[in-house]
Order: sequence, then structure tokens, then C-alpha cells
Amino acid sequence: MPKNKKLIVANWKMNPQSLVEAKKLFLGVKKTASGTSNVQTVICPPNVFISELNKLYSGHRVSFGAQDVFWKEKGSYTGEISPEEIKSVGAEYVILGHSEARAFGETNEIVNKKVIASLKAGLNVILCIGESKRDAHALYLKFLTEQLKTALLSVGRKELKNLIVAYEPIWAIGKTDEDAISPHQMHEMYIFIKKTLTELYDKKIALNIPIIYGGSAEPDNVNELLVEGEVDGFLVGHASLEAREFNEILKIANKK
Ligand code: PGA
Repeated sequence: MPKNKKLIVANWKMNPQSLVEAKKLFLGVKKTASGTSNVQTVICPPNVFISELNKLYSGHRVSFGAQDVFWKEKGSYTGEISPEEIKSVGAEYVILGHSEARAFGETNEIVNKKVIASLKAGLNVILCIGESKRDAHALYLKFLTEQLKTALLSVGRKELKNLIVAYEPIWAIGKTDEDAISPHQMHEMYIFIKKTLTELYDKKIALNIPIIYGGSAEPDNVNELLVEGEVDGFLVGHASLEAREFNEILKIANKK
């Protein structure tokens, strides 16, 4: 995982509906992504498209990632896919603990197993945390601490060099830039997450773990979130499905 670069991750979710469209979308961002030297772009399409898209690219500025994996290496787990398998078709990253997976029953304990297995396989892990709503007593901070703490249980210090934390408040996902987090709130969360990581490990380790933001990251809000929010990048959902918008985000991040 390159240091000193902004990390812009495209989370295509379950889109688009065909390989033809996936190739078209990828080719629409490939040129800009190849030209933005201060940015590491990570495209996370549905798993079935990874190997075909990987064939269309040979540089280093774009990497591919999966949106989930199973925690076992191999065996009788119908329908699942292992970190090694996804790596073998070109994925270098994996998104884990996304709120949409958690909504279908994924617990912190399951996320922890996936984090351990993925780091062991040598994948860069994008660990998602995020509260569904905020309360006046700030109990959501406890909830976030618990998400981080449990997901990282038994994860050794050495493996943390391949960890990225994605802060994705559920209340901001899939909306518009106006509903996203404010730069000030983001900055508070940045400090909070670093502090929590310092408590779990130490300051040096915490400083080295990139923190990216997800939840309606769009061309209109990424600049201020980078400057005032101090984020190290973005996990981009709907805006990554429009080549023009995603390219715009890449160009803005490249200037920082
Ligand atoms: P959004 O999705 O950018 O559409 O809000 C982000 C995500 O869910 O990762």
C-alpha cells in the first residue's frame, strides 16, 4: 500500500449488470486514474469482473479489490470465496465490514475472522466502521470503539501496515453531498479513530493507519473533507458509477 498518496476506492457494490458495462465503466476512469500520480485508485467491482478488468490494466496506479471474502482458505463452503482465491485473480484489497454486509447479519466477530484471514493472505484490508445514527450522549462513539476493537482482536502489530480504516456513517450513505459528514465532524472522527487505535496499539502504529471516509463522497465535498477533515482518501459508492464524477474526485485528490 503506497504511503503519502490519497487512496480513492471505488465501491461499485452490485453494479453494473454486465461485464460489457463493467469494462466500459473501467475504461472511462482508466486514463485519469493512470495519470493521477498522487492517488492510488482501487476499483472494487463485483468479484466476477475482477479478472477481466485486471487484464485491461498493467500499471501500478490502479489496483483492484473485492467487496467481501470468506475467512476460510478453502473447502466445502458453497458460494463463498477465499482471500487467496480473490488474490489469485488480481485483487490486492478487500472491503470488510461494510454496513450493507452487516445489515445482512455480519457481526463484529465475523468481520474479525475475515480481517485476520485477509491480512494473512497478504490483502490490504479496508475495514468499514460506522454508526447508524448519532445520539446526544455520544453513545455512538462506544459503538464505534467496539466495532474497531472486536474487528482487530488478535491482529498483530506487523499486519497493521496493510490496514485502512474506512469511516462510513450509515446515515450518510447513498445520499447527496449535502447529507454527507461536515469537514469539522470528519476531523473530530479522524482524531477519535486515531485515539482509539493508539489505545489499542500505540501512537506510531495509529499514525500510520490511513483513515478514509465513505458516505456520499462526491466531487462537491471531497476537497473540503481532504483539507479540513484531514482524511487520507475516500470510499466512493454511487459517484464511482459515473466515470465523469469519479474522474473529478481523482483529479481533486491528486492536487492535495
Ligand atoms: P455512497 O456509498 O458513496 O453511495 O454513499 C459509499 C459506500 O457505501 O461505501
